[in-house]
Amino acid sequence: MFVSFEGADGSGKSTQAGLLRAALAADGRDVVLTREPGGTELGEAVRTLVLNGPVMGAWAEAALFAASRAEHVEEVIRPALGRGADVVCDRYVDSSLAYQGIARGLGVEAVLRLNLAVTDGLLPEVTFLLLLDPGVATGRHVDPDRLEREGTELQAKVDAAYRELATLFPERIVAVDAARPPEEIAREVYERLRDRS
Ligand code: TYD
Repeated sequence: MFVSFEGADGSGKSTQAGLLRAALAADGRDVVLTREPGGTELGEAVRTLVLNGPVMGAWAEAALFAASRAEHVEEVIRPALGRGADVVCDRYVDSSLAYQGIARGLGVEAVLRLNLAVTDGLLPEVTFLLLLDPGVATGRHVDPDRLEREGTELQAKVDAAYRELATLFPERIVAVDAARPPEEIAREVYERLRDRS
């Protein structure tokens, strides 16, 4: 089983990915928990380059995330699935579709095509989308500076982008209300997964 978690920055994805790993492991399953960008040496280098490196265009950004993903699939995800393990991934293709495809305007189809090519078509069976009202976070900034404003705008775009993806891929993407205690969300995730398998 290949499961991914998606959501805006600070939506609690990493916590939920960890809790799902623990729940599946407690059932006696072999589970690999991994994340993007990262998960391989190349991925960590790409993470540093994209997050702290020079200013770059949207396609360069999409191509670097895709390169990291190609390596991640080949080195980590496919081998794990091949030996029968479950893979829980903190961010995957939908991050590129939301950030580069929609928020940066490259187009969902073009970015999806690139990603399907570099992963040989590998998509998760289920993607949990953690939704938080972006107004909850932005409301806390009484007098935001330019960067905070830009950050807030991007977060609002990303939130809208993810909601659009959930309507585009309703069989795969399961939206979850993330404004609840982590254990409650984890229980819902586990039950939804059990219901599907
Ligand atoms: P990270 O520190 O991992 O953020 P988070 O803890 O919220 O996951 O940084 C990853 C950033 O990279 C995040 O802002 C989303 C972005 N990103 C993309 O734009 N496209 C992608 O394909 C991926 C995997 C991440």
